[in-house]
Amino acid sequence: MNAMDERTEAAGRIEELRVRLRQADHDYYVLSAPDLSDFEYDALMRELQQLEAAWPEFFDENSPTQRVGSDLNGSFRQEEHHWPMLSLGNTYSLSEVEAFFHRTARLLDDDFEIVCELKFDGTSISLTYEHGRLVKALTRGDGQRGDNVTRNVRTIRTIPLQLQGEGYPDYFEMRGEVLMPWQVFEELNREREQNEEPLFANPRNAASGTLKQLNPKVVASRRLDAYLYYMLGDTLPGDSHYDNLQLARQWGFHVSDAMKKCRTLEEVSDFISYWDTERRNLPFATDGIVLKVNSLAQQQQLGYTAKSPRWAIAYKFQAERARTRLCSVDFQVGRTGIVTPVANLEPVRLSGTTVKRATLHNADFVSHLDLHIGDMVYVEKGGEIIPKIVGVDMTAREGTELEKVRFAVTCPECGAPLVREEGEAAWICPDWQHCPPQIKARLVHFASRRAMNIEGLGDETVALMYRSGYLRDITDIYRLHAGEVASLERLGEKSARNLMAQIEQSKQVPFERVLFALGIRYVGESVAKKLAYAFRDIDTLSAASFEQLAAVDEIGEKIAGKVKDFFASPLSRRQIETLRNYGLQFALSQEAAAPSSDLLKGKTVVISGTFERYSRDQYKAMIEAHGGRNAGSVSSKTDFILAGANMGPSKLEKAQTLGIRLVDEEEFLAMLAGTSAATLTQIPVEVRAEERTDPASGSAGTYMNSLFDDIEP
Ligand code: IVH
Repeated sequence: MNAMDERTEAAGRIEELRVRLRQADHDYYVLSAPDLSDFEYDALMRELQQLEAAWPEFFDENSPTQRVGSDLNGSFRQEEHHWPMLSLGNTYSLSEVEAFFHRTARLLDDDFEIVCELKFDGTSISLTYEHGRLVKALTRGDGQRGDNVTRNVRTIRTIPLQLQGEGYPDYFEMRGEVLMPWQVFEELNREREQNEEPLFANPRNAASGTLKQLNPKVVASRRLDAYLYYMLGDTLPGDSHYDNLQLARQWGFHVSDAMKKCRTLEEVSDFISYWDTERRNLPFATDGIVLKVNSLAQQQQLGYTAKSPRWAIAYKFQAERARTRLCSVDFQVGRTGIVTPVANLEPVRLSGTTVKRATLHNADFVSHLDLHIGDMVYVEKGGEIIPKIVGVDMTAREGTELEKVRFAVTCPECGAPLVREEGEAAWICPDWQHCPPQIKARLVHFASRRAMNIEGLGDETVALMYRSGYLRDITDIYRLHAGEVASLERLGEKSARNLMAQIEQSKQVPFERVLFALGIRYVGESVAKKLAYAFRDIDTLSAASFEQLAAVDEIGEKIAGKVKDFFASPLSRRQIETLRNYGLQFALSQEAAAPSSDLLKGKTVVISGTFERYSRDQYKAMIEAHGGRNAGSVSSKTDFILAGANMGPSKLEKAQTLGIRLVDEEEFLAMLAGTSAATLTQIPVEVRAEERTDPASGSAGTYMNSLFDDIEP
């Protein structure tokens, strides 16, 4: 083949692959009906990546390969909106919805339809398409100018980069909402909690914070979704809003089905009351219903006020809010010493639960409220989960309120003067070595399931043993005797024996979990894993320089600083020595350290389900280190499946049909244990290229750990 033919062939294949992958993305993400297996998809994607790398002249920023996000960095350029991004008139009252309906009828003096839609609670986005290609994505900004977040938006799978079908205008905009589904939001916050990063107060903040991330890779990992609800252009194909959205759906946009054309006020209010309850079953947050006049001609006729269209209105669902009296304020000390102000309230009902306590977030929030004991305050469910104080009813001030609430200056538990680190909102009790709640919380953390997994050493038992003087430090756990444990009230001989067995078993817990259990500030589960794999044993880790630590993928300076502080402390060093003498694991096990061998040479292994001992990535690395190949889907070529808990039903069925063996993790590790440990494959220490700050975080709703245990379900 001559060079010319080769080029034409490459161009043809690249286009073919792009079309196929685009279709697959749409089937998977928008229609939830994939027709390619993960394996087939990955193979096509890899082929496209290779071809694009070989033929850079065919680069296209809208290629499906660009979804994964590049590492290029830079802050956002502000750009003018072609059409300003207006907001909607808001109302909380059905009578105002009624007034809107009657006013519309009066102004139009003709039949009309109202389209009722969900009001998505995310962050708005404006997408510009030219000749069917996404060319720009702007945030709302001030309505006139927005941030150009195109590179981030390209990673959102439900936003088409190239439209399908036909009939779309050469130039038009789609407006909609970028959302973070509840499930993703909860997972993200769990992860942040473990890593001791500030939590996002609600999915809206999480979505907008994510969209403003500087690294598109982080955005890609956060699994944002988007719903589009408004088409704008000089010439649009349909003459109604509803018809245009149906067309948009055909071109590949994610358009909600929860949309209805209504002719009467009754239909409108039925839609509202239906979704007021039904929205709780949606996988994402909504905060109201939007009503829009359907006909574009009638929209034009009604026109705009300075800020919003006269042809639309937003009805907002009542935020679940209650008013009650502030009785007192406590200051709670968490495991890491963070002091959180908590309001004690006169009990009040709030969406099915009785609320007696609510967070006041931090010192800045308390002083911002000018809060006095005895004030009438408003309580809301933050992100509809956690009660928080949102304001004070100043009109109810009678002058009989007691003193102004002042933030603690010393630790309420141990009396140490509180400190505040530069740039942080939180006050901290620095005496972590002696402060009782910090010590107890560290013990509970150490014993917790994902750390040392010592069942029977929860909050209450730890408190009891702390009071009795048996437990003052994590090393004391390994000094306990069955006799003294059994002598404690409530703990019979049987539970004492069980506890001793659990403690003994914990000595086999792998290094990375021991590292997590130590409770080093900012060292959550995933950071512990990274550190364990990068340095492989505690001595190498404790000797690592600040620069070596900060160079590890996802570690960064803040964490590196805390790790250095931890190992500089004589108490930590003593603890480690003692625990080491008790037989805890302070180095990666042989199999985790991935001794290379040919044991799996030529073998294709599929990993499925969830695992206890190591992560999927670690198992993948082990398979490769032993010469095997990890494949994404089960086929007749699969040699065995490394099967964890909750294996996917389709994989299971396929494995059964093809008669493929399932190997559980213990069996797999036993299989590898026989191989030579002579050559240790070094797991590369990647240089961190990531911006770790989240502009939207650190807001209200942080530091909520263990606050609300006394609230009735
Ligand atoms: S239409 C000119 N429809 O609510 C009309 N907005 O102030 C443009 N929103 O900023 C908006 N769901 O971010 C429209 N179905 C929906 C919506 C929606 C959520 C947001 C949007 C806007 C705010 C209204």
